[in-house]
Amino acid sequence: MSHPCLDAGKKLALAAVMAMTISSAVNAADPVQARLTVDAEPAGPRIEPGVYGHFVEHAGRGVYEGLWVGPESSIPNTRGWRNDVVGALRQVGVPVMRWPGGCFADDYDWRDGIGEPAKRPVRPNRWWGGVEDNRVGTHEFMDLAEQIGSEVYIAANMGSMPPRAMSHWLEYMTEGGKTTLAEERRRNGRDKPWKVKYVGVGNESWGCGGNMRGEYQADLHNQYATFLRDVVRVASGDGQGNDPLIDVLMERSGPHLDALTLHYYTMPGDWSKKGDATGFDAQQWAKTLKSALGIEGRIAAVSRVMDKRDDKKRVALYVDEWGTWYDTPAGASALWQQNSLRDAMVAALSFNVFHRHTARVKMANIAQMVNVLQALVLTEGPRMVLTPTYHAFDLYQPFKGATPLKATLQAPPFRTGDVELPSVEASVARAADGSTLLALVNLDPQRPARVATNLKGTAQGRVLTAAAIDAHNTVARPQAVVPAPYSARAGAQGLALDLPPKSIVVVSVPAAR
Ligand code: AHR
Repeated sequence: MSHPCLDAGKKLALAAVMAMTISSAVNAADPVQARLTVDAEPAGPRIEPGVYGHFVEHAGRGVYEGLWVGPESSIPNTRGWRNDVVGALRQVGVPVMRWPGGCFADDYDWRDGIGEPAKRPVRPNRWWGGVEDNRVGTHEFMDLAEQIGSEVYIAANMGSMPPRAMSHWLEYMTEGGKTTLAEERRRNGRDKPWKVKYVGVGNESWGCGGNMRGEYQADLHNQYATFLRDVVRVASGDGQGNDPLIDVLMERSGPHLDALTLHYYTMPGDWSKKGDATGFDAQQWAKTLKSALGIEGRIAAVSRVMDKRDDKKRVALYVDEWGTWYDTPAGASALWQQNSLRDAMVAALSFNVFHRHTARVKMANIAQMVNVLQALVLTEGPRMVLTPTYHAFDLYQPFKGATPLKATLQAPPFRTGDVELPSVEASVARAADGSTLLALVNLDPQRPARVATNLKGTAQGRVLTAAAIDAHNTVARPQAVVPAPYSARAGAQGLALDLPPKSIVVVSVPAAR
């Protein structure tokens, strides 16, 4: 049986021809007609909850202010972590958090962040500006993970510290016996060892993590990974479209790694002029969504290279940095950007892609959690705003642990200038209780869509949309973009779902009795 994406691709091409033929007769207000045929067959292994993971870096106001206000703050907090933000994150569910970088990780000495806070050294934050006073270190971060209920993914320094520093950090955190480092942890206030599930051996070693050649990185990776025990060993992979790097790592480090990373950032422009987070036009909308969908090509390409040396798919692919990256407005903190309905669309399209690649993609971490890049939460002093991206994560919660199903989608493409996009994008999965989960994204900012399906019964869930393409939530208008209830009942032709323009609909259809 052919891959469902290929089926969808062929049919899309056919639908494109049909759409071009009839386009002159189409009224912009007429719904786009799409058809989704759901198969009972699984399309791959389950959707790991880890693909709804997060990335937290010491950058801008991500950690300090956004999450950490300190125990003395008038902003309600628990041991320094703000209660409003932690509460919102608990609600949306954080399966895994990657910390402390990013580029910051390869300039970080874990010893700076333990012991008496007042005595911790102050260092320059080489990548994101200002200074790092190390008020948040290992004990504080682990407390955050426990408060949120998240697994821990430590991004450890391979770029500027020896292997012994990495293995000592792990020992400090996880040793239950009476070693010198475990006793030091106890003296610093933590008796019970923490659980550390994942260790990243360096970050972007081809760039900010040390500007290494792949061959050199692979040798170093093997050396550092030798001294890590009982963790998932994650090698820094690609972020530049460099397939040969993946091949070198798989060839030389295969037995010493359990996962490889991929970084993929979405932007309407390029690195020299990324584009604005709000106030953009339909062309920028289309370019952004096109860029977002490009992640599928990268995942497929990297997976193919991995398959050559690992056809059993032992090594996982972690997309441990993904999301939108726009130009930072003048005067804003490092990497701060507003978050609009467009970002929620990017999140939904990315989730759909991850669901199509569950055989390899076992984790993905949005960059980043709070106040940095495509954040779920923005803060201003004591106030907190949940972004449209937060709501996209919330809508998709039922997909965590569900099994993706084969499905064929016929949906005509639409054009904005020179950018062609599918009008509708979909993901289908079976939940543990047998119900069918549908996530449908209408990418067209002008036209509604009607998606006819072969399903029966009643669909219930939520829809996320707004009047403007750059609609966003602010402290003054925190509810400008929020989900609304959605339901549809099957008629004689089966279940059809009406999607407003520029919308995300996630519904569950109970199993037929
Ligand atoms: O997320 C911001 C930065 O992007 C990270 O520090 C780095 O890994 C990537 O280049």
